[in-house]
Amino acid sequence: MGNLKRMTNKFKQNICCIGAGYVGGPTMSVIALNCPHLRVDVVDIDEERIKEWNNNDISQLPIFEPGLANIVGKCRGINLFFSNKVEECIREADIIFISVNTPTKKSGIGAGFASDLKWIESSARQIAKFAKAHTVIVEKSTLPVKTAETIKTILDSSEQNDEVNIKNNKTFSIVSNPEFLAEGTAVNDLQNPDRVLIGGDDDNAIKLITNIYKNWIDPTKIITTNLWSAELSKLVSNAFLAQRISSINSITALCESTGANINEVAEAIGTDSRIGRKFLKSGPGFGGSCFKKDILNLVYLCNFYGLYEVANYWEQVVKVNLWQQKRISTLIIRQLFGTLANKKLAIFGFSFKANTNDTRESPSINISKNLLQEGAKLNFYDPKVKEGQILNEFDETTNRENCVVSETPLKAAEGCDAIIVLTEWEEFKVLDWENIYKVMRKPAWVFDSRIFIDKEVLKKIGFQVWTLGTV
Ligand code: NAD
Ligand code: UDX
Repeated sequence: MGNLKRMTNKFKQNICCIGAGYVGGPTMSVIALNCPHLRVDVVDIDEERIKEWNNNDISQLPIFEPGLANIVGKCRGINLFFSNKVEECIREADIIFISVNTPTKKSGIGAGFASDLKWIESSARQIAKFAKAHTVIVEKSTLPVKTAETIKTILDSSEQNDEVNIKNNKTFSIVSNPEFLAEGTAVNDLQNPDRVLIGGDDDNAIKLITNIYKNWIDPTKIITTNLWSAELSKLVSNAFLAQRISSINSITALCESTGANINEVAEAIGTDSRIGRKFLKSGPGFGGSCFKKDILNLVYLCNFYGLYEVANYWEQVVKVNLWQQKRISTLIIRQLFGTLANKKLAIFGFSFKANTNDTRESPSINISKNLLQEGAKLNFYDPKVKEGQILNEFDETTNRENCVVSETPLKAAEGCDAIIVLTEWEEFKVLDWENIYKVMRKPAWVFDSRIFIDKEVLKKIGFQVWTLGTV
């Protein structure tokens, strides 16, 4: 398989990954680390992103993930390459991972729910045009069920699309290999996954991909299924995880009304081994590029197949998430005497969770917009998110002129009436809260939406404190 291509270099096989994003970059780096016998090319149409992946200063990669820079430093230029040479790398590849973005469609049929597959389609067309001989195509992106069929249709028309019309017997096999990494722990998740899922109907292709993972993963953790089960399992897995967060978040409001404590409730239910402790941390709602998009996609699929009750059930998970963000915003406004006009608030944390610089769908965005709408001036601090990335989330309609980004938490808190903690960065636990208190206007508030700063310590200093899910 792929002999023609392998003869062109010293590696056993050539892997090409289309898309050098949060999934493509870390996933391919870990494959390269564990498979020195494979050549891994990560290609992207985004020139800036590729330049950043090739940055000599390894601390300046486009994606911040603990442990990632170290791996890129070890493999880059040896068996891991980042480039914009999409056509060339497709030509040379035995295996092509498609890791491009699949956001929610903004317009047209299914807008607001269905996945926009234009980047998948363009990748498939490029593969159809430039691939040679036999190539295994791996769906790494999260996709609606049956997308493999679309890809196959495009690939099967490759004879007509062939750029120079060479009769080179190109053939393709498609495998679904969804990615389950979570940002912030991507390297560890890739090195020690709970499972690897490989779906397909071509045994040789499944074996080829399984053999890659077997280089560092226990074979008992590799699950093989048919194509459609693999595609659907990814959506369902994210829906179940997000559902747990909406479930626990819905109970925070009840705790605040009744005097129960959400952490105690989570602990009490989580010790039931049937429920389990994980993913029961209440907070300002789930963010990130996946949960909302994948549930909406699931909702779209259910509606498409006429399963309206199922669609409504899952849509509620997203609705509760939005409700939690609105609820926290309203609560802050109420505590600050019902108005934010002429008030300065510090937003601590802008990434959607700790240990990532990703801000896609971050709860900080919605909550900040709600506060800005009430006339607040916001001063942001995040240890990993750059100023431009924060300010880009706002425009004149959302009062961008009232947003400032500071380089330290102390600077951000200066003259503020309140600090809103929205991301659980460890450093927020050990801040010099006494000094912070001194530079704030009084009464000085801390709103802790992540329930992780010591309330009693803050109160002793003089802060008014609101902690989610407690009274
Ligand atoms: P991303 O936006 O960070 O990266 C996608 C990259 O693909 C971009 O850099 C884009 O320029 C590039 N691209 C698009 N079309 C291209 C083309 N035709 N040729 C070359 N490059 C092209 O997205 P991501 O977060 O890495 O997500 C990728 C996929 O993985 C999505 O389907 C997502 O749902 C899924 N996923 C994401 C995560 C996560 O934690 N981010 C986890 C699991 C699965
Ligand atoms: C998620 C899935 O976990 C991962 O398997 C999939 O591949 C991609 O989507 P990610 O979005 O990167 O990963 O991070 P995750 O840790 O799942 O957190 C998502 C959001 O939920 C974050 O905003 C996080 O703060 C929030 N969250 C998570 C909670 O509020 N409580 C929890 O208990 C867990």
